[in-house]
Amino acid sequence: MTELVEHRRRYPVERVPESSLHAVFRASRRWTDTHGREANALHVGEPAFAMPPAAVEAMRRALLDGRCAYTSAEGMPELREALVAKLAAQGVGTTADHVFVTPGSCQGLSAVGAAVHTPGAAWLIPRVHWPIYRQQGVLNGYDVAGYPLGPGYALDVAAVARTATPATRVIVVNSPANPTGAVADPDALRELLALATERDWLVVSDEAYEDFVYEGGHPPLAALEADVEPARRRVFSAFTFSKGYAMTGCRVGYIVAPNDEFAGLLRRVQEGSIIAPPTPAQIGALAALGDGDAVRANVAAVRGSRDAAMGALVEAGLIAGPPAGGWYALLDIASSGHTATEFADRLLAEYGVAVAPAAAFTVPGDPSTRTVVRISFAGDRTRLLEGTEALLRACRTWGGERAAGRA
Ligand SMILES: Cc1ncc(COP(=O)(O)O)c(C=O)c1O
Repeated sequence: MTELVEHRRRYPVERVPESSLHAVFRASRRWTDTHGREANALHVGEPAFAMPPAAVEAMRRALLDGRCAYTSAEGMPELREALVAKLAAQGVGTTADHVFVTPGSCQGLSAVGAAVHTPGAAWLIPRVHWPIYRQQGVLNGYDVAGYPLGPGYALDVAAVARTATPATRVIVVNSPANPTGAVADPDALRELLALATERDWLVVSDEAYEDFVYEGGHPPLAALEADVEPARRRVFSAFTFSKGYAMTGCRVGYIVAPNDEFAGLLRRVQEGSIIAPPTPAQIGALAALGDGDAVRANVAAVRGSRDAAMGALVEAGLIAGPPAGGWYALLDIASSGHTATEFADRLLAEYGVAVAPAAAFTVPGDPSTRTVVRISFAGDRTRLLEGTEALLRACRTWGGERAAGRA
């Protein structure tokens, strides 16, 4: 018995942090089962809008026509060529042999981590981050460290430089960011690229929310490398059909590798782990790519929800201003007198509203998120407004109770 326990402890995967976000999912589901109606799931990043009808139709046809055979590990040539054109319009010069369609950008990001791993290497991620970066770093055998962010969760390149060590090999950048909603300043991205070049790091740029930038545009980070000769480029970019096209469950994303050398490494990982991305989903993605109107309508819907919900939250001092991008907002609920975990538990129990404590999105023991929770504003607008109203009421009522208790 003892022997078995000792044996099991030796699996490195046991170092992968468990996701406290999933605990919120389970609690929310329990609430729904107990009450016989849906909890208001503000913790989830699922959009209220559906995938483009052209993509649905293309997938339906693909299935009826039996187009279900494997493609190559990199994905369908037609889709990769269409992505090359899309990227060229964004200032990223690449070729189809550097573009990898992946089963969601999540798998693509993990594959990049596996492709460029070297023994003893460190994987540097934002201190407040999408938790999968941390899990992927550990799964791929890296030491994982978090770099501090500046005011408003901004990219602070001086802080990155201070946090890095000689072991740093890869830095992950995420703009627009989940969970912070921050959009990196192009000058900060330029500085970061200069630092990465000076220290010979690779850069993984997660641009899953590229369409959801509410002020100004989104120049992809790789566009800043346009003048660098391909052999010296260092940016891997990750994009997805999950967000702009609402194709979360179809599982289609793509990675752009910086040059032949890194594309060759990535190809080995993909051949050894996925065989190929799903064919009907790639056919749907190709059809979706022609539907710019769908993305514009989806962005307008999320922007509208953000604007409708944020006024009262800003006024109550829970957030400094509306998030500049993405689908999420971090709210400081300190006025409720509770920690984020107590608040989330009580809000679900008493109001049926689920929010995610920000501890799920940071490094262990980070005190800066003790009273911070994340909400998504991409879901149904009526439910969002009901949820944020309940959240504000809870802050006022529980904060008042605390104050009265102390008086
Ligand atoms: C920051 C970020 N990157 C990547 C993804 C992955 O998306 P997918 O694997 O569906 O492409 C998500 C999904 O929530 C995300 O929030």
